Amino acid sequence: MSDFEITALVLAEHEVFRRDFAALDDLSGQELAAAWEELHAKLEVHAVAEEELFYPLLAQEAPGGEEETAEGVHDHNEIRHAATAVEQHEVGSDDWWEAVRNARQVNADHMAEEETDFFPSFKEAVDDEQREALGMRWLAFHDEHEQAEGLSGEDAVVAEVVATEVPEGDPTV
Ligand SMILES: [Fe+2]
Ligand SMILES: [Fe+2]
Repeated sequence: MSDFEITALVLAEHEVFRRDFAALDDLSGQELAAAWEELHAKLEVHAVAEEELFYPLLAQEAPGGEEETAEGVHDHNEIRHAATAVEQHEVGSDDWWEAVRNARQVNADHMAEEETDFFPSFKEAVDDEQREALGMRWLAFHDEHEQAEGLSGEDAVVAEVVATEVPEGDPTV
């Protein structure tokens, strides 16, 4: 299995989030503001990429996948709200840090659930070839939406995610 299999790429980005949240602790002022803004954008790109490429197939192919998808999308919206709440405070203030810690916690809990509960059912239901092709789409999606460009940041709707048609095959061949 190559490094471009979709769950390997999702996991790699989870590790980036863990590092990025920890790295905030050592920053202040403009650097802190810029690092948070970048992290916030990356969280949104990650969530939408999963809602377009991972969760629809989990819902459609895996036994119990629809409930897992509902949980995952619910978590994504919770993370969105937690991240938006950060923006309501002055960067570096006590209230700001409290909001960041909350966003970090809800995101950490969600990532753990994906890795522990959702990846195994997904990998059982979606074959290697398709997961590799989805990995290429995952990378292409990130190229298209750098800094969350073109993404609304609005809540995702479970029924829409479940009904999303994911194209088959590698987009680069
Ligand atoms: Fe997620
Ligand atoms: Fe994720």
